[in-house]
Amino acid sequence: MNIILIGPPGAGKGTQAKRLVVERGMVQLSTGDLLRDAKASGSDMGVKVAEVMARGELVTDEIVIGLIAEKLDELQWAGAIFDGFPRTLAQADALQELLSARGEQIDHVIELRVDDAALVSRITGRFSCASCGEVYHDTTRPTRVDGVCDVCGSTEFVRRADDTEDALRARLMSYYKQTSPLLGYYHAKDRLNVVDAMDEMDAVSQAIETVLDA
Ligand code: AP5
Ligand code: ZN
Repeated sequence: MNIILIGPPGAGKGTQAKRLVVERGMVQLSTGDLLRDAKASGSDMGVKVAEVMARGELVTDEIVIGLIAEKLDELQWAGAIFDGFPRTLAQADALQELLSARGEQIDHVIELRVDDAALVSRITGRFSCASCGEVYHDTTRPTRVDGVCDVCGSTEFVRRADDTEDALRARLMSYYKQTSPLLGYYHAKDRLNVVDAMDEMDAVSQAIETVLDA
């Protein structure tokens, strides 16, 4: 089974994708993570995309489609969760081609719907484990022991360069202008499901499980 998680920045795509990896053994393909890895590697492409990401704008279709195509070649097909991809109609068309060339398709598209007002506190309160990448939040998902990652025990945490109010405004603008048209695209293909992502994390996971089991 292959699914797409769509939603604005801070909707909970990464959080829910990681839960599905644990619960269902699916593979998370996050273009945001792949781009941050490229930045961390210091490659020419990584340096180029870092500035675009810090401004909250979209990286070119060519770069992200290339990253996904590379990952699909490595995938032992256990079911993929596309997290933050596709984000434009061109990316959606490319994904369809990449999948059908492999005899695969998208089974469910899940829109995580959240009020804009909730996103500021979700984004500005987010931090992640520097070692394993587990995502936390200052108030809604703190570590169980202060300063220690629940998953791997690391005591180092990071905050993202684009998790500022200014960059968030630009990211939201990109979402509404370039990504939200995909909701109509997948609705027309009868693949779209809407989940209320204002709810607390466990309830959102439950709603996603219900869609996947339907
Ligand atoms: P990307 O990394 O994809 O960022 P994003 O879409 O802005 O999404 P986020 O990762 O910020 O949020 P999320 O929905 O995963 O929320 P999370 O689970 O962390 O992209 C970053 C940049 O890369 C883009 O701006 C662009 O430049 C570039 N890029 C990436 N993909 C691209 C593409 N396809 N094309 C072009 N450019 C691309 O949750 C947020 C916080 O809220 C956490 O602290 C979490 O603990 C908390 N939380 C989660 N769920 C709940 C809940 N139900 N209740 C309360 N708190 C919650
Ligand atoms: Zn960790």
